[in-house]
Amino acid sequence: MRRFVAALAAAVAVMLYPVAAGAQTYPERTITVVVPFAAGGPTDTVTRLVAEAMSKDLGQQVIVENVGGAGGTLGAGRVAKAESDGYTLLLHHIGMATSATLYRKLAYDTLNAFEYVGLVTEVPMTIVGRKDLEPADLKGLVEYAKANKDSVTVANAGIGAASHLCGMLFMSAIKTPLVTVPYKGTGPAMTDLLGGQVDIMCDQTTNTTKQIQGGTIKAYAVTSPERLDVLPDVPTTTEAGLPDVQVSIWHGLYAPKGTPAEITERLSKSLQVALKDENVAARFAELGTRPSPQADATPAALKAKLENEIARWKPIIEAAGQYAD
Ligand code: MLT
Repeated sequence: MRRFVAALAAAVAVMLYPVAAGAQTYPERTITVVVPFAAGGPTDTVTRLVAEAMSKDLGQQVIVENVGGAGGTLGAGRVAKAESDGYTLLLHHIGMATSATLYRKLAYDTLNAFEYVGLVTEVPMTIVGRKDLEPADLKGLVEYAKANKDSVTVANAGIGAASHLCGMLFMSAIKTPLVTVPYKGTGPAMTDLLGGQVDIMCDQTTNTTKQIQGGTIKAYAVTSPERLDVLPDVPTTTEAGLPDVQVSIWHGLYAPKGTPAEITERLSKSLQVALKDENVAARFAELGTRPSPQADATPAALKAKLENEIARWKPIIEAAGQYAD
């Protein structure tokens, strides 16, 4: 009799409160976060720190899979097609917004292919050069680039990447197109910059701070309105004479379209816990950034950010008329 009543109660609960299959016990196995750039780069660094902290909170492994290429659109496309069961996620940045216009034949509909978990961080960028590059400051770099425009090389992580966007802002500010060299991420691009194979790169502080502090690359400017505590000697682009080169790289966590709200809410809660994690905050600070506010680590905040950013960059990209396809 008691068992019959219990079974009946459960059946009634499911009827009254239909929770998606698996959502109640989520997560039950390893979660994969796709990083749409090569290992060892800035987005990889941010994702691995957050994944480790979320893993502790969720009680399941959260692993990173790097799917680099096409400025981040290959990795995003992979997640857009993945099962909507909460076990495949995407951590991507401003490139999600710029690619929506840069790529006219994108394999997914940016605003309709994903569910939202929350914002993660917003990273300043730095204009850097190989260690033995002649110019000592940004003014000198601009003159050098203009005088050697057919030979100066600028590394980036492909069309739609943050390094591509910042590189474009730099070249349009100095009104001089330079030779761009694409990579699957700024991790491998940094290796070539350290080796002197490329001259300049505009990259996130999460990838450049340690190299700048170690003197293994030259720093010309940061793209933030204020100087950074971790790089006190590096002037802002405004101080150094290029006020139009201002950009910071917001990052968000996404799931495939159709992932149940119970799961994205659970992930959002876990992301909020991760962003309060002492190790995450300390490592982010060491690398010139900070966790997004708790209120932004929510589906609604990320959705609004993406929509606003697509609207902001669309006219700029269309005016430049430089598409990826
Ligand atoms: C990376 O992780 O390699 C970067 O985020 C690439 C970029 O967007 O510049």
